Amino acid sequence: MSWMLKDMDAHFHSLIPQSDPLLAQLEAEAEAEHIPIVGPLVGRLLHILALVSGAGRILELGAAIGYSTICLGRGMAAGGSLLSLEHDPAMAARARANLERAGLAGSCKVEEGDALELMVGLSGPYDLAFVDIHKEGYLPALMHLTRLVRPGGLLVVDNTAFAGCKDFTEALRDDPGWLEAQVLCHFPLHSPEKDGLSLAVRVG
Ligand SMILES: C[S@@+](CC[C@H](N)C(=O)[O-])C[C@H]1O[C@@H](n2cnc3c(N)ncnc32)[C@H](O)[C@@H]1O
Repeated sequence: MSWMLKDMDAHFHSLIPQSDPLLAQLEAEAEAEHIPIVGPLVGRLLHILALVSGAGRILELGAAIGYSTICLGRGMAAGGSLLSLEHDPAMAARARANLERAGLAGSCKVEEGDALELMVGLSGPYDLAFVDIHKEGYLPALMHLTRLVRPGGLLVVDNTAFAGCKDFTEALRDDPGWLEAQVLCHFPLHSPEKDGLSLAVRVG
């Protein structure tokens, strides 16, 4: 006999947070244009992680149309600031417009350019970093993140079950500067199948 719900997929689908009109519109745009946003469940998770960590300085790699940026911005501490790095000019412009609509344009900025290049010129400390760029960029981003995220700060990395992330997840596991938990899970309305999410706290 199993203790598990028989209809667990349908049940957990029914528990996905209800999006407000702005996020719902961005979800519809993303679906129509095949833009891979985190979706309502991981979006809510980002909101919660920003909130519980009390993050006042947030760095995001990969804004697309600003969906995850809005989720993080909503959880950010009052008076905080978020910087998102996005190399596609059209996406950066849409993210800025959507942050304006969300009432977050004053606190959340999108800088245009390659995240790996832009990070060289950044100074920390950041309380939270969220990584969602091209997957081969994750490993080279790690050394910058190790410098930029403060001790005790939180790293959240999306799509770590993608083939291009294998070297990153192993490097994170082996790095004594991070205390990590790497999760393989099915997040409904995020990825079509199981996907990975790395969570890590900067230590030492
Ligand atoms: C998966 S989408 C981001 C989705 C967004 N985080 C969300 O959930 O709403 C990845 C974005 O990262 C951008 N990107 C990919 N590689 C990048 C890089 N090296 N530097 C900056 N942006 C990059 C792409 O243009 C794309 O808009």
